[in-house]
Amino acid sequence: MADMKTKYLGLTLKNPVVVAASSLTATPTGVKKAADAGAGAVVLKSLFEEQLRADIQSVGGSAGESHPEADAYLAEMGMHAGSGEYLKLIREAKAAADIPVIASVNCIGGPWWTEFAEQVGKSGADALELNIAFLSTSPDETASSLEDRVVQIVRTARAASGLPVSVKLGSQYTNLLNLASRLSSAGAGGLVLFNRFFRMDIDLSTLGLMAGPVHSKPEDYHESLRWISLLFGRVPCDLAAGTGVHDYASALKVILAGARAVQVCSVVYQKGYGVIREILTGMETWLDQRKAAGLDDIRGKLSRFTSRSPADYERLQYIKALTGIY
Ligand SMILES: Cc1cc2nc3c(=O)[nH]c(=O)nc-3n(C[C@H](O)[C@H](O)[C@H](O)COP(=O)(O)O)c2cc1C
Repeated sequence: MADMKTKYLGLTLKNPVVVAASSLTATPTGVKKAADAGAGAVVLKSLFEEQLRADIQSVGGSAGESHPEADAYLAEMGMHAGSGEYLKLIREAKAAADIPVIASVNCIGGPWWTEFAEQVGKSGADALELNIAFLSTSPDETASSLEDRVVQIVRTARAASGLPVSVKLGSQYTNLLNLASRLSSAGAGGLVLFNRFFRMDIDLSTLGLMAGPVHSKPEDYHESLRWISLLFGRVPCDLAAGTGVHDYASALKVILAGARAVQVCSVVYQKGYGVIREILTGMETWLDQRKAAGLDDIRGKLSRFTSRSPADYERLQYIKALTGIY
């Protein structure tokens, strides 16, 4: 049997399938279900999602998920109220499951932040994932000043918590390679590519705001695949795929591109925790058929870094392929 172990954020995971931050991992029971289903690790639900949801509902919108538009003041108030509960969740999750537990904070870098990161560091969490999402609405804020804020949060988190830190990013950055290397220098041990943000929609009957589709689709993994293949070998961070992994095939593809872990969320909501075992069995069977000893044998084999024709990985508009299709 192929060895499914992987190293991620300095931790040894028995396999690379990680249940992503969400309500699936919001309780010790959910964490135990993920562990019992075979997950290699879990990322706990981010701190202050409830506050965000309450915020949206209180202004008459529908409940969405973690999203960047939340008001900073309410977020900080929620953080103060929720931090004790969150530290308790970390301790209980650790007690409920014998797999690594990664805490997650939806982070805006407010004044509470340093102290809370210190507390997370002492809570027993194995690592800390930062879900950083700024949606700038000011025409005066430059892309570089926004990225400076992201880098500063990572530096603070790493120093204060003393934990391995990963950063879950959105895909909309002008030069992700540059940002990734700055984040690595600031202490990020891992990058999760990508977050899937709250999708805004409008209800035509009520003329109110509402949430768009909450779950990803199986075809949504391509953006993660592209960027993992471009970043592998170019930054020292461990890479994790974060959107659209719904089956063993996409899990294997992102590992071939260079991922050390694959985060799953929507597919677990849709099919239940049992899908984790299905994904793992499919991966093992594929590796065994190819006589691969383990994931280390295939990781990054189809990355830009190892490619003989790296330019192919950089084409946003692949004329040959497109002309073949149309
Ligand atoms: C219901 C729901 C709740 C989520 N809550 C969080 C959260 O608290 N923190 C976070 O970083 N991401 C959150 N996410 C995003 C997921 O962790 C994941 O990154 C995203 O759904 C993409 O992965 P997928 O394609 O496997 O669904 C949530 C997603 C869903 C569907």
